[in-house]
Amino acid sequence: MTIIIAVDGTAASGKGTLAKKLAAHFGFHHLDSGSLYRLVALGVVEAGGDPNKEEDALAAARTIIPARASDPAIRTAGMGNIASVVSAYPSVRAALLEFQRTFAKRPPGAVIDGRDIGTVVCPDATVKLFIDARSEIRAHRRWLELSAAGKSPSEVEILADIQARDARDRSRAVAPLVPAPDARLLDTSDLAIDAAFAAALALVKPGVENALRTQAKG
Ligand code: DC
Repeated sequence: MTIIIAVDGTAASGKGTLAKKLAAHFGFHHLDSGSLYRLVALGVVEAGGDPNKEEDALAAARTIIPARASDPAIRTAGMGNIASVVSAYPSVRAALLEFQRTFAKRPPGAVIDGRDIGTVVCPDATVKLFIDARSEIRAHRRWLELSAAGKSPSEVEILADIQARDARDRSRAVAPLVPAPDARLLDTSDLAIDAAFAAALALVKPGVENALRTQAKG
């Protein structure tokens, strides 16, 4: 059994940053599952398809190239919104499931962040985190990030966007955004990134160390 850390959470909650840092800390592989849905969104747009049509989204999901996850074109707010729309289709979610589950088995361990990792993709994950922060704080952090990158975003629009995306992700019928019953909750509203990482590490460390000991014995 490889070790799996599932890191789910709301949009712009910092789950990706925390997942990356946890992976670096333990020497595990990291998968940002949101990038897969963003690649589906990009695929639909590039093919001139309609994100509101499940068949267009499924065609894109069947042809995504996960190695393109570093393409900056998927990182825009627009792609995040389209990703949220296409991710509600059961067939799209099913098409991406096997890739994620195969990734999760990569030795010695994997950290996967997303919305349904602890509930659907890896319900038997070694440890599960659910990351959240007040939406105003998440919007402000995103605004700071974009401003530092030389853009001039509207914080009001970012907030509306984040709230709309959370609402859509929470209310979909399949694999909605919800903490797994056995997830450890971490609210990073009042934590800077180093403190948030320290808190996340404290939550996952006992479970991971226990699993590493079991692995070493087996
Ligand atoms: O984490 P992100 O913002 O890059 O995710 C973009 C969208 O993809 C998100 O709004 C919902 C969807 N998503 C999902 O449905 N399931 C996941 N495991 C990850 C992302």
